[in-house]
Amino acid sequence: MAPGITKLVGGTPLLKVRTFESEFPRVQIYAKAEWFNPGGSVKDRAALAMIEDGERRGALTHSKTIIDSTSGNTGVAYAMVGAAKGYRVKLVMPGNVSAERKALVTAYGAEIVYSDAGDGSDGAIRMVRDLVAMDPNGYFYPDQYSNPANPRAHYEGTAVEILEQTGGHLTHFIAGLGTTGTFVGTSRRLKEHDPTIRTIAVQPEDAFHGLEGLKHLPTAIVPGIWTPSLADEVWGAPTEASYDIAQTVARTEGLLVGHSSGAALWAARRVAATVSEGVIVTVFPDSGDRYLSTGLYGGNR
Ligand SMILES: Cc1ncc(COP(=O)(O)O)c(C=O)c1O
Repeated sequence: MAPGITKLVGGTPLLKVRTFESEFPRVQIYAKAEWFNPGGSVKDRAALAMIEDGERRGALTHSKTIIDSTSGNTGVAYAMVGAAKGYRVKLVMPGNVSAERKALVTAYGAEIVYSDAGDGSDGAIRMVRDLVAMDPNGYFYPDQYSNPANPRAHYEGTAVEILEQTGGHLTHFIAGLGTTGTFVGTSRRLKEHDPTIRTIAVQPEDAFHGLEGLKHLPTAIVPGIWTPSLADEVWGAPTEASYDIAQTVARTEGLLVGHSSGAALWAARRVAATVSEGVIVTVFPDSGDRYLSTGLYGGNR
């Protein structure tokens, strides 16, 4: 019997991805299936870690409302953990996040405040800062972009799981950049284990992209937790190619993954094309069922 929903965060399966197997038979590609987390995405790990860190420090009490800006998945995670632990949750989101995300956080009882869609995730960050400044004692603001508990969740969780699941034998690690928590925390631990592991960070190719959850760092507010020295490479993934790969793995492998997983696989294929053999590990942050209304898997996109 499970001891409570928050105890089910982490411990996700490592899946073998076969799509590029015939093209690159000596390269193995694996991905952490993060939609197996109870809130449906990798962000459960960071949200739970930041909330429990706030509880330990005494910064979060039941008289406060948890508030943060989020492109969606972190909001779902805050809403789930908040509901499980009995906290009010208020989320600032750009108006254009997918309908599924909005409906989900509302289902968990969280309140949404919309920022201007045209201002993207940075507009949401600015709005949350204004709201907190107006009532500093009313809110617990984890600030996922600057909170060390975010990468720590991956340093202590995701990376340790990858090392166990691969027996420590991997040659490359690839992850998309949103807050950068997944990439930074996991890469740090993996490089401590074996400094020869190559780490590749993936951002959208340009500022105007369709890769929800990912940030184009040159044109964005750079997250405080971002640690460029941990990235051997930073690549820009094209939106259309990432969508195409997400659609392919859904249809040929039964892996219904989201946009940013497509971007991660775009990078994995690029690595596979440059090495004679290797073991590539990446992260699939969420499932494609969060994006059905966007037409990602067919229909009019
Ligand atoms: C779909 C998706 N992919 C990737 C990421 C990036 O993860 P991180 O914030 O750990 O960099 C996020 C983060 O919000 C996300 O929602």
